[in-house]
Amino acid sequence: GRIWLVVPAAGQGRRMGADRPKQYLPLAGRPLLVRTLTRLHEALPGARLCLCLDPDDHHFDPAWVPFAHWRRTPGGAERVDSVANALDGIAPDAADDDLVLVHDVARPCVTVGDLKRLVAAIADDPVGGLLATPVADTMKRDDGAGRVRATESRDGLWHALTPQGFRFGLLRRALNEALARGLRVTDEASAVEVVGLAPQLVAGRRDNLKITHPEDLALAELVLSAQESAHEL
Ligand code: CTP
Ligand code: MG
Repeated sequence: GRIWLVVPAAGQGRRMGADRPKQYLPLAGRPLLVRTLTRLHEALPGARLCLCLDPDDHHFDPAWVPFAHWRRTPGGAERVDSVANALDGIAPDAADDDLVLVHDVARPCVTVGDLKRLVAAIADDPVGGLLATPVADTMKRDDGAGRVRATESRDGLWHALTPQGFRFGLLRRALNEALARGLRVTDEASAVEVVGLAPQLVAGRRDNLKITHPEDLALAELVLSAQESAHEL
């Protein structure tokens, strides 16, 4: 079947606090969005791209898109709304068993190796799955007043990363169900969990970080250059 890449890029980057949304800030000399699309294209050159963009976005340049087949769909109020709009947008051309990989534009350090490993891991999985890494730090729960109430076990806890990949039909049904029930889903896997299925956890690299705060930019530049010198694209 076909592979679709849905890239939510309609956020405002409020926590970054820059003069424009973070996907347009320079990262090692190129806009962050270009870095992310380049990695996706290196791994999956034949995929079809659907880019979620704010309809009022003045920064985007279509010349940045390396994919032969691509389209843009309007972003929504929350990330989940942007992704749901994207699925509506590709629905006329997507088959229920096409694979949809959803990847945050804010994760430019995803490697070609992890992208290919995810696709291989979920190729024959009836549910689908996501890149994830085991939690390494000791986890504390607060008492609401800045003190520790309890230390939580990190056994079996993972960080959910992206991409997250599911069959088109299943993902659309799951997201619409979660939205109809008014549930706050912050990733695709949690929508699939809502319909009673268990997505596969595919161990990915820890350096697939999400650029959120200003200090993440310098960190991501270090990661990109370390990956390039190790030829671990
Ligand atoms: N996103 C989106 N539509 C929204 C909100 C977010 O497409 N309505 C996208 C962002 O562009 C980003 C991804 O979802 O690629 C993850 O969101 P986040 O890291 O929270 O980015 P922002 O929402 O832009 O940042 P902030 O929450 O700090 O404003
Ligand atoms: Mg956000």
